[in-house]
Amino acid sequence: SDSDPLQDFCVGDLKASPSINGFPCKQSVSASDFFFSGLGGPLNTSNPNGVTVSPANVLTFPGLNTLGLSMNNVEFAPGGVNPPHSHPRATEAGIVIEGSVFVGFLTTNNTLFSKVIYAGEMFVVPRGLVHFQWNVGNGKARLITAFNSQLPGAAVLPSSLFGSFPEIPNAVLTRTFRTDDATVNNLKSKFAV
Ligand code: GLV
Ligand code: MN
Repeated sequence: SDSDPLQDFCVGDLKASPSINGFPCKQSVSASDFFFSGLGGPLNTSNPNGVTVSPANVLTFPGLNTLGLSMNNVEFAPGGVNPPHSHPRATEAGIVIEGSVFVGFLTTNNTLFSKVIYAGEMFVVPRGLVHFQWNVGNGKARLITAFNSQLPGAAVLPSSLFGSFPEIPNAVLTRTFRTDDATVNNLKSKFAV
């Protein structure tokens, strides 16, 4: 859903200031600007979520500038969860490369559409909708995801709500979640930046 390009390519000059829609074009371009070796993994998934996302977006692969797409390598430890998040600028497509993954997204009416899918199976997430994945297999799992934006963005709900800087006032979060300060403080302590 990014803007249409007005030339064959415009490899991003990341040292320049971003302009209104992406980066200015780099002057001297070669074949290596159009290849990226960073999606192969393996990734270290020893973290509290048991998931690591490695992006090929315009910031890591500047050749994507103005091309309107990007990809991620997403790897899961057993039981790992890619927490609920949304991409403000892109629809997402994904394919399971390895393992068994419970994939779900929520409509704006809070209907959950979900399925367990296996290697070779694909899913989609409509633009902007909240979604998550959970590795339900005994071993590791791996997805490759793709986006129709060079920089889809990700609003990750738990860290947005409980790990922001400055913090969202407790009065907002206790009322929002119909709970108490102790619960909110406990959650904030897990996501503090
Ligand atoms: C998975 O949801 C991803 O954003 O790569
Ligand atoms: Mn996503």
